[in-house]
Amino acid sequence: MYVILDKGLFNMKVTHLTESEFGSVVTEIDLLNLSTEDSNIILSLWNERALLIFPDIYLSPKGQDHFARLFGALEFPRTAISNLGKDGIIHQDPADDVVKVIRGNEGWHHDSTYMPIQARGAVFSADIVPKEGGLTGWADMRAAYNAMNVSMKEKVSSLSAYHSYYYSQGRDGYLPNGQNSDGTYNAYGFHDGEACLRPLVKIHPFTKLPNLLLGRHAHDVTGMLANESEEFMDQLNEFACNESRTYFHQWNEGDAVVWDNRRLMHRVTPYNMSKPRRMWHTRIAGDPNTEMAINYR
Ligand code: OGA
Ligand code: MN
Repeated sequence: MYVILDKGLFNMKVTHLTESEFGSVVTEIDLLNLSTEDSNIILSLWNERALLIFPDIYLSPKGQDHFARLFGALEFPRTAISNLGKDGIIHQDPADDVVKVIRGNEGWHHDSTYMPIQARGAVFSADIVPKEGGLTGWADMRAAYNAMNVSMKEKVSSLSAYHSYYYSQGRDGYLPNGQNSDGTYNAYGFHDGEACLRPLVKIHPFTKLPNLLLGRHAHDVTGMLANESEEFMDQLNEFACNESRTYFHQWNEGDAVVWDNRRLMHRVTPYNMSKPRRMWHTRIAGDPNTEMAINYR
């Protein structure tokens, strides 16, 4: 189904990951000087493979945002996802708001489903990498949908859930207490409007194929009691993120990726927070026509 592109025809080498139905490693490419033809190849490859990995690419700060704009307008520009404070201190106290945000990322999620417009994707790069842990994992929600039997498909297709960062951080005991006056802490995501309602099945706007839309921010499934919904979603998340549908990337400094947040969930694996880790995240905005919460239309 997929063509392995050859450097002889196009200015890049593409190798598909074999562990899962998504993900490709792209090498021998200059991401900042793409021809129109190569840009189109990267875009369609991304829509099909959902995760593109560019090892040892060392994007510059401006270069990362420039590359991200190939995929759409930015929800926010390159931002540090790090336990290393601006003043050089390492945030490691469990009561520290910076630590709580990072620990929250250990649960499977799609980004910005708690905002009126869900993110389209992200360009993410590694700057400081701990020796152990701190891998990023992705899980394929298209494969998860396809793995369900007909009656489960029918059931989930009729359901929606609210998404809220207050819910996910609150459930895990990670609500902020407002310290971190060094400006490191970023309260992004605590959206104060009505929680965003989203169907559990999303039709991917490019491929038109269905995938599950779940994760730690999703709660209060329509037509269910709160505890019934929590149990249902916990089980569904566990099923969906079965190992067979995941890939975990062991980072090297200078690696960059771009993922499709409409189809994939992601998470960070735990690491020793007395050691620094710094990643850079450029978030690509969703399309209001297809990523807007149904109660915000
Ligand atoms: C994020 C996120 C995971 C990681 O930045 O949105 O979930 O590996 N990061 O740091
Ligand atoms: Mn995230």
